[in-house]
Amino acid sequence: MLVQPIQVAFYNCNAHKCNLIGNWTNELGSNMTIVKPTPGTIFTGSYFTAVTVENGTVIKESFLYGAEDDQHSDQPVFGFVVNWSFTVSISDFIGQCFVDGEGVEKLETMWLLRAKADSSGDNWKATRVGSNLFFRPNK
Ligand code: BTN
Repeated sequence: MLVQPIQVAFYNCNAHKCNLIGNWTNELGSNMTIVKPTPGTIFTGSYFTAVTVENGTVIKESFLYGAEDDQHSDQPVFGFVVNWSFTVSISDFIGQCFVDGEGVEKLETMWLLRAKADSSGDNWKATRVGSNLFFRPNK
């Protein structure tokens, strides 16, 4: 059977725009929910991390806010900040929302985690860097 160019174009199409809104989990077992109070680039949400730097710290839900470029791609880039409610640290995540041909979404991110340094001399050890892959949790 001859494959027509129009069919090739159809099969290469992403099933839909990658949507940041909703529930996500990452490979550490952390969970987050992203909401958009108003349509546009700005979003908010909540983050429940599965891990923390300090052993013995009681983990609580934390607030996040961020922005995405929702104008120029069906696989938008984004960034968000989590101000950890249970400790003196803050995380910045940046990433991109990818969707495959079956409509499966994932967020590929990198993050910086900034802890409080006791003095400027300790500044060098106050920042960690890493990456997280987020996917939709099983319902
Ligand atoms: C802290 O321990 O200072 C606050 C919690 C930090 C959790 C980090 S942020 C990057 C990584 N991804 C997660 O889901 N949790 C850890």
